[in-house]
Order: sequence, then structure tokens, then C-alpha cells
Amino acid sequence: MCGIVAYIGNKPALPVLLEGLKRLEYRGYDSAGVALLKDELILLKTAGRVRVLEEVITASKAPLDATLGIAHTRWATHGEPTDENAHPHTDDQSKGHGIALIHNGIIENYRALKTYLEERGHVFTSDTDTEVLTHLIGELYDGDLESAVQAALREVTGAYAIAVIVKSEPDVLVVARKGSPLMVGVGKDEYIVASDSSAIVAHTTQAFTLDDYTVARLTRDSFRTTTVDNVPITPQVRELEFDLEQIELGKYEHFMQKEIHEQAQALRMCLKGRADSREGQIVLGGLADLARTLVKARRIIFVGQGTAFHAAMIGEYLMEDLAKIPSEVEFSSEFRYRNPIIEEGTVVIAISQSGETADTLAAIQEAHARGATTLGIVNVVGSSLARETDAGVYLRVGPEIGVASTKAFLGQLMTATMIAAFIGRRRFLSNEYVSNLMEDLEAIPDHIQRVVDQSDHIRSVTERYISRENWLFLGRGYNYPVALEGALKLKEISYIHAEGMPAAEMKHGPIALIDHGMPVVFVAPRDSQYDKVISNIEEVRSRGGHVIAVATEGDESIRDHCEDVFYVPAVPEPLQPMLTSVPLQLLAYHAAVLRGKDVDKPRNLAKSVTVE
Ligand code: AGP
Ligand code: GLU
Repeated sequence: MCGIVAYIGNKPALPVLLEGLKRLEYRGYDSAGVALLKDELILLKTAGRVRVLEEVITASKAPLDATLGIAHTRWATHGEPTDENAHPHTDDQSKGHGIALIHNGIIENYRALKTYLEERGHVFTSDTDTEVLTHLIGELYDGDLESAVQAALREVTGAYAIAVIVKSEPDVLVVARKGSPLMVGVGKDEYIVASDSSAIVAHTTQAFTLDDYTVARLTRDSFRTTTVDNVPITPQVRELEFDLEQIELGKYEHFMQKEIHEQAQALRMCLKGRADSREGQIVLGGLADLARTLVKARRIIFVGQGTAFHAAMIGEYLMEDLAKIPSEVEFSSEFRYRNPIIEEGTVVIAISQSGETADTLAAIQEAHARGATTLGIVNVVGSSLARETDAGVYLRVGPEIGVASTKAFLGQLMTATMIAAFIGRRRFLSNEYVSNLMEDLEAIPDHIQRVVDQSDHIRSVTERYISRENWLFLGRGYNYPVALEGALKLKEISYIHAEGMPAAEMKHGPIALIDHGMPVVFVAPRDSQYDKVISNIEEVRSRGGHVIAVATEGDESIRDHCEDVFYVPAVPEPLQPMLTSVPLQLLAYHAAVLRGKDVDKPRNLAKSVTVE
């Protein structure tokens, strides 16, 4: 979802900006651009990858030694991904002041503003909403960039993270944020501003996150932060807990491959210090102050999107099984607009890897407005969702760079299990039950590793079906959301059409799709509905479908019912998704590689959808 990098200091800005854009590429984008300000305002931008921008820069004869600059990777919302629509944008070419601006988000009222500005003689050269904001700042500029930006943002509705420079103030960088993430790295006589810490940590580990409606004015040796109404505020500068090695590929070919293979270690980190089988209790510091509220909750609503939504579906089952609290799950985007009923004792739990998904943020704001207690299950420390919920639990699985979520999904499942057990232990679960559950959780990372070690087998099976354009994924109970997740993984990185559904639902129409050789994946571990799943498998095979089963180690009988089997270790039903989803991650990964797709940056996708 777009990337912003800006630099003001005493080093040449361009290398810092380009390296920062490359660190942010994982967020997904379609265009890239840079603006440098020294004596002149140099602006170079293009549709396509950062490497295309580098070619444009190399071909330009412009002076590139400026120590102030802004750079952007765009994920188009208004206007095609073209050179002209790429950022940075400038104000009016004829009567302008030489303002350059980059933006993440959407200016919702850009049409009305554009009309107003056109009536005042402004001429626009792009189709974007961003250019309108740039011209508005130009219209309000009277020699002080900070106040012009504040005044313009008071007229704007929508979401923005922006960085702005102007030719007449070569020692000033102004940045601002509302609804889209922006962080300021505080170096020695330099500042690096970026969408997330991955573009900052190479330069400094001291940083602060801008809150909504905050404007920062940066010079080479100082900064000032205010609200958009020019009320001074003091940001909290903190130490960034980020290890560059975590965002390096190392021995792997893709980040998704690396993140699948590091899941066992990631889940050990997720569990560390929280699940203590000897004591038979869960220790979740982030929930301590809310324990009584959670124990007395009368209803729990999980919200999320995409993979996080599938984790939320499993969270619903876990909460009802372990804590015995009526629970439900909704897409964040549906919850926020459907006028939800929130009565006394309702807890809304948001699941989000990035903590910046616009719909999930809005769902939490809606829940708050209606008096609900809110929790966050989030991976990115200090993200908007982490700061806007009443409490929460971080996944602690490390940065997830691949657009397709893998280790974060397993971290979400592990964390939801711990939260449900944390509450359940304070309601009906015995010490012994929770101790046994903790032992089972502690064994999960080694079980995951056993599944990951089957990668070559999974690749060889995938290869046999690589030409098939339509797949079905089926499962029941806890493994129904796993079927949905398996279908999403395959779709989003290999572009093969796949559909997930409850195994029983297939008979109510989709069975018409089954034709000879169609690959149908059944998530079929030994569980309470195993026999029913075997019946569903036979219904598919009798119509010519080719069945690939995810099954429990030792279940040899299932081989009589399917063409291929991926085995996972036996674990209690509530913990099965953390294992049964791993073969499907690898299936999708190998399908994408075999089809020559861009595994880590799939077309049209963003790592975090920070716009509606
Ligand atoms: C999952 O592989 C996708 N990248 C996408 O569905 C993602 O899960 C969704 O956009 C939610 O993102 P979040 O967890 O950062 O909120
Ligand atoms: N809405 C702006 C555009 O379409 C910014 C999109 C983004 O966040 O990259 O150019």
C-alpha cells in the first residue's frame, strides 16, 4: 500500500530515498517518483518499479546532490498508473510556488476542491486526488509552508500521510498524517520520514509516530509538531525494536518462502513468556487491566479482512470452545457500515497484521463510538490499531514482508488461542486443562517444522496440477476457515482461480463445477467430522475430481479416497489450523513460482490496504 520516504539532513538525499523505497517495495505499488530540492526543484517520476525510476534518474542530467528530498511508491486509487499520475505532484505550473508533494491515502472531497481551484485559474495535469491537495497548498501559500499545509488540511476530508517541500524554503520539510501511517526517524542533524520503520532503521533507531491530525515541520537540526490547528504537541520519541536481518532475504529466494520456513521460530517467539505449562496459566500483560471486563463479557465480535478475517473465524470458534462466551465474526468493512448492535458487555476484537487496514481501523472506531471494549491482535508494534484499541496482544512473529500473509496468520491463531484460554481459565477451564493445552501449544512449533520439511513433496504434487485453472478447497469446523485461507493464498500469488467453502456446502450447487481432473483440496485431519468429510471426498471422486487431502499422520486409510496426501501431526482440534494451513501455504507458494509469478509483490495487491 504505497510508500513514503523523505529526508532532510547533510547527506545527499537521493541514496537514502532510493534505499528507503526499496525497503518499502513489499507494501505493493505501481509507480515511483522522487523530488530533490537544492537550488532547483528536480522532479523525476514514472509508472513501474523502483528500478525503472533509477533508469530515469540515471538518464536525467539533473544535479542530484540535494540534501532535501521526498520519494514515493504509489498504489493508484484515483487515476491510472501512468507517469503523469505518479507522485510527487506539484502545484500550478504557471502561477505556482514550486511545491512538491507525495501522499498515501485518499482525499475524499477532492472533486469539490478541484472545482474551487479551477474557478481560481488552476490547471491540472493529472487525474489524481493528490494533485488537488498540492494545488490547494499552493493557493494558500504565502511564504510559510507549514501554515499553508495546516490550512489546506483543515479543508480536507479523507486519509493522508504527506511530505511536502517548496522551492522558496530549501531548509524545510513538512509532513502530516491522518489515517495513513507515517513515522519520523530522529538522526543526528538529520531526519528520515517513512511509512514504516523498515526504511528508517538503517539510519537511526530513535523515532516517533505521527498521530492523526498532526503536522511536523523539520529542519536539519530541529523539528516542531503541531495539530492542523497549529496547537503545539510533544511527540513520544522511542527506540525502534527492529533488526535489519529480519527484513533481509538471507538464503531464501522470496520473503514468502523465508516467512513460511521461519514459522516454527516465529511461533516460539509468539509463545515465549506467555504460555507456561508448569504454572498452567497464560501470561498476557497487555490484557491484565482488562481481565475482569473480558471475563464478564457477554458477547465477543471479531473483525478483520482477508487472511486476518480467516483467523477471526477461528477465533470465534476458540472463544466459544475455551471461554464459553457467545462470539461472532464479521468483515471489518461490513461491520463498520451496517449499524451494528453493541450492548453492555460487548467486546470487539480486531485482527490485523499491519495494524493499518483502513476498514479494520474504522470498525474499531465504530465499536468505540458505540461503547464497546476493543482489543487488538496485531503484529506491527506502534501501529494505528495497536494505539487505538483499549488493549491488545502483539503477535511478536517479526516483520512480515511478503504480501501473502503466512507466519502472521499462524501468529494470529496462536494469539487468539492464548486469549481464549486466558479468559477461559478465569471462567470454567481447570488448571489441568490449561496446563495440557499449554503443553500442546509448546509442541506446535516443532510440528510446524515437520510440515514445512515436506516442501519438496508438496512442490511435486503441485507441479502435476499446475495447468489447472480452477480449484476447490473444502473443510469443516475449525478447518473450514483453513479451506478459505488456502483458496486465498493460491488466488493471490499464482492468480489461479480458487474457491473455499464448507465441505457440506459443495452439494448445494458448487458440485456442478466438478469435472474430470479438477483439483479439489480437502482439509481432512482426524476430527469430529472426519467421516462426513470422507463422504464428501467420495462425492467429488465419483464425479471425476482429483482429491488432494491434508490428513493426520498415521491415517493410511485416507489414501484409498484421494490421489495425494499432505500429512500433519495429530493435535487437538482447536490447534489443527496452525498445522493444516501450512501445506496450503506451500502449495500456493510453489504454484506461483512454477507459474513464474512475482511471489512477494503480486499484481494489484498491497501488503496493507490503508484505503477503503
Ligand atoms: C493475505 O495474504 C493478504 N495479504 C490480505 O488478505 C491481508 O490479510 C488483509 O489485507 C488484511 O491485512 P492486515 O492483516 O494487515 O489487516
Ligand atoms: N490517492 C492517491 C493516488 O491515487 C495516493 C494513492 C496511494 O496511497 O499511493 O495517487
